[in-house]
Amino acid sequence: MNTKKWEFTPLQIAAHLGSLIPAILIGWDISTGNFGIDPIRDFTFRTGKAALVLLLLSLACTPLNTLFKFKQVLKLRRPFGLYSFFYASVHFAIFIGLDYAFKWNLIQDALLEKRYALVGLATGLILLALTITSTIGWQRRLKKNWKKLHKLTYVAGLLAVVHYIWLVKQGVLDPWYFAAILLVLFILRLPTIKKALSSLRKRNLQRASH
Ligand code: HEM
Repeated sequence: MNTKKWEFTPLQIAAHLGSLIPAILIGWDISTGNFGIDPIRDFTFRTGKAALVLLLLSLACTPLNTLFKFKQVLKLRRPFGLYSFFYASVHFAIFIGLDYAFKWNLIQDALLEKRYALVGLATGLILLALTITSTIGWQRRLKKNWKKLHKLTYVAGLLAVVHYIWLVKQGVLDPWYFAAILLVLFILRLPTIKKALSSLRKRNLQRASH
């Protein structure tokens, strides 16, 4: 019999609840009819932003552990990644279902003509592959290659930021803030930086205990 207990730490509960907030707010606005003149655009923006923020949160977990030896946070990488995929799927569903009413020839034209849409699609496909292979079964099957495959999370982050940069008007700074965060997270993952930070943390701990 499977006796696995579903035990969640307060941090995990907070992460799940926090990740669901955008969906709850969108559901609330739909049920109360509280939306502006272009609700489809509004919901496209909100789901896209949620997918991007959660993807970056998933990428932030490992550097947070390197910096503060905060192991608990490593358990949040998968849920944040899965929630990011969830919002990206809703985002894409709004695009094909509400924006283009499932008119496949128009959708194909839009994807080929608008470079930001094509890059968005590539991001979504990477997130799909990461979601499918995120289980223990796939981890065992792919062995060392699993880690290599999941480094694609950085590529997904980069493409998502490019998608955002390409769709906003020139001079809008918002996507560049996300680009800066992604760059910092990437730098913190570089082996030399990681090693330097770990030894700095150890030295500080030793000094504090004397
Ligand atoms: C699956 C293919 C995708 C398509 C076809 C697509 C399409 C779109 C469209 C049409 C917009 C609004 C453009 C406008 O009206 O000005 C948008 C915005 C956005 N998308 Fe996507 N997208 C896709 C995937 C993604 C993914 C995977 C992410 C993130 C992981 C993402 C993040 C964003 C962001 C952050 C915005 C802008 C939100 C804002 O301005 O507040 N998109 N996307």
